Amino acid sequence: MCGIVAYIGSQKAYPILIKGLERLEYRGYDSAGVALQNGQLNVYKKKGKVADLVAYVKDKDTEGHIGMGHTRWATHGKPDDINAHPHLSGNKRLVLIHNGIIENYAVLKSALQKHGHTFESETDTEVLVHLIEEVQQRGNLPIEEAVRQALTQVHGAYAIVVMDRQDPTKLVAARKSSPLVIGIGKGEFLVASDATPIVEHTKNVVYLNDEEVATVTRDGGLTIKTLRNELMTPTTHQIELEIEQLEKGGYDYFMLKEIFEQPTTIAECMRGRMNAEEGWVRLGGMEEYKMRMINAQRMIILGCGTSWHAGMIAEYLFEDLARLPVEVEYASEFRYRNPVVRDNDIILAISQSGETADTFAALELAKERGALTYGIVNVVGSSIARLTHSGSYIHVGPEIGVASTKAFTGQVTMLTMMALILGYERGFLPKSQYQKLVQELALIPDKVERLLLNCQDQVRYIASEFQHATNALYLGRGYNFPVALEGALKLKEISYIHAEGYPAAEMKHGPIALIDENMPVFVIATNRSAYDKIASNIQEVKARKGVVIAVVTEGDETIKSLADFSIEIPETEEPLTPLLSVVPMQLLAYHMAVLRGCNVDQPRNLAKSVTVE
Ligand code: G6P
Repeated sequence: MCGIVAYIGSQKAYPILIKGLERLEYRGYDSAGVALQNGQLNVYKKKGKVADLVAYVKDKDTEGHIGMGHTRWATHGKPDDINAHPHLSGNKRLVLIHNGIIENYAVLKSALQKHGHTFESETDTEVLVHLIEEVQQRGNLPIEEAVRQALTQVHGAYAIVVMDRQDPTKLVAARKSSPLVIGIGKGEFLVASDATPIVEHTKNVVYLNDEEVATVTRDGGLTIKTLRNELMTPTTHQIELEIEQLEKGGYDYFMLKEIFEQPTTIAECMRGRMNAEEGWVRLGGMEEYKMRMINAQRMIILGCGTSWHAGMIAEYLFEDLARLPVEVEYASEFRYRNPVVRDNDIILAISQSGETADTFAALELAKERGALTYGIVNVVGSSIARLTHSGSYIHVGPEIGVASTKAFTGQVTMLTMMALILGYERGFLPKSQYQKLVQELALIPDKVERLLLNCQDQVRYIASEFQHATNALYLGRGYNFPVALEGALKLKEISYIHAEGYPAAEMKHGPIALIDENMPVFVIATNRSAYDKIASNIQEVKARKGVVIAVVTEGDETIKSLADFSIEIPETEEPLTPLLSVVPMQLLAYHMAVLRGCNVDQPRNLAKSVTVE
C-alpha cells in the first residue's frame, strides 16, 4: 500500500529511485513521483504508473545524489498529479513521502489552517509535512528533531521519509505500523518499504521499529531515536533475497512465473522440516511452545484475503487431524469486536507480506490478552513475524503478482505440517496415518509439476470458452470449499468477472437462482467423502441448464461424464487435495485475465501489501 524509496550517497539518485519504484509498484500504482536535491529541489509527480512518470521526467533535470520516490495507492484524495507524492511544505523547504494513514489529519489540518497554512492537495500526507514545517519553524529545529516532535502529535500509521532543502546532507525516516527498511551500503543508504529496491546495492539492513526516527547522512552516519527521544542501537540483519527472484525470468507476468514456481516453492517450504523416508515433520518455531500448543483448548486463525482462505483450509486440517477446535476470523472484524481470547488459545496469524494492517492489529490485541501468537509469514523480518511469540516462514521467495498464488500453497503446506505435528502429538493421528500423510505430502511438488504440464492446454481452452462471462460460480465441499472461495477470488481480482465461491450444498439456498446457460459453474469435485453429494450438486446445476466445469481426480469417468468440461488432477489423500485443486483455478483466472486484456500483475484498485485498514 504505497511504496517508498529514498537514496543518499555518491551515486546518481534518480535511476536508483526509479528502479526501486518499479520493484515497489506492486504496492500501489495510482501515481508516482520523485524529489531530487542538487542545489535546488526538483519534484516531479504524475498520475499513473512509474512508466508514466519516467516519460514525463524524460527531458527534465534529474541530477542529484539525494532523493526520494513514491508509488501511490490512494487513500485520501483521488489519484491525480496533485495528490501524488512527494508533498512539499508551505515554505517549499521540506519534502515528504508517506505510506499509511494519518487518522487525526482533519484536526491537525484545521489547527494548521488557523496558523495560516494553505493546502494544495486532498491528502493527509500534505498535513503531515506542514505540521513538521510548523514545528521546525517555531523551534528553529534541525529536521530530525522537527520530525520527532511533530510525530508525537500524530495518530495513525506512517512510514515516511523527509528531506530538508536547507540541509541536503541527510534523510530522515520514521515509522509506525507501516514497514520501513534501511539499507546500509558503502558510503550510501537506501530507505524503502521493503528490501526489494535495496538488494542490488547491499544486503545489510536495519528494520526500523514502530515510533522510531532514523537519520542517515552523507558521511555514513545512522542515528535512531524513539519518539520519546531515547537513542537506540541499530541491529543489522543480512537479507537473503537474490535479484533473480525479482525478475520475470522469461514469463509474461510474475503471476504466471509464480504459479509455475509452485513445485519448487512447496518443496522449499518443507525443506529440512520433514523426512518422508523416516516419516516425521518438525518445525523449529513450534519446539519452544510445543506443550502449550498441544494442550491448547482452541485455535483462532487471523488473516485477510487469500491468507484467510488458507486459514479456512486450516480449520478443516486442525479439526480433522488434530481434533483442535478452530475459529477462522477476518482480522478486520476480530480486532473491533471485543473478542473472547483466553490464555490457553493459540492465535495463528497468516500473512504473505507480514505487514497487513488489520492482521497486525488483531494480533496485537490477542497478544495483549495473553494468548500464544504464532505467525505463518513469507516476508522475513516483517512486522507480523516480529510481533508474534514464534512462527514459521513459508520460504516461497518474493511474491510480486498482486494475486497471491505460491504464497497460498506455501501457507497451506505449512498449515498441513503443523496439523500433522499436532495431530500426532495430541494422540489423534495414529503413527501409521501420520507417516502416510507425511509421505504423501512429500510427493505434492512432483504432482503439482505434472499437473501444471498436463492441464495447461485444457485450462487455456476453457478460459477461451468463458472469457466473455460476466458471472461465475465456484462450488466445493469440505477441504475444497475454501478452494472454491479462492478460485472465485482469483477470477474477480484479475479478470474483473463477478465470481462467487460457495459450499456446494448451500447453492440451493440462493445462488441456484442465478444459474442459466450463460453461467459457468466451476465445481471442485475431487473429494472421496461426499462424492455422491457433489455428483448430485452437479446434476442440480445441469438440470437448470448451467454449464459445469469440473475439477476431477485423474481417472474419474463418472463426474467427467456429467460435466461439460473437466480438468484432471493427480490423486492424493483428501486433506492434501487443496494443494492440487487450487492450481488449475489459479491458471484459469490467469488465462481469462490475459484473454480479456487485463494487467494481470497490477489489477485495478488492488495492492499487494495492505498497510492501511
Ligand atoms: C491483499 C493482496 C492479497 C492478500 C491479502 C492479504 O489483498 O492483494 O493477495 O491475500 O492482501 O495479504 P497478506 O500479505 O496479509 O497475506
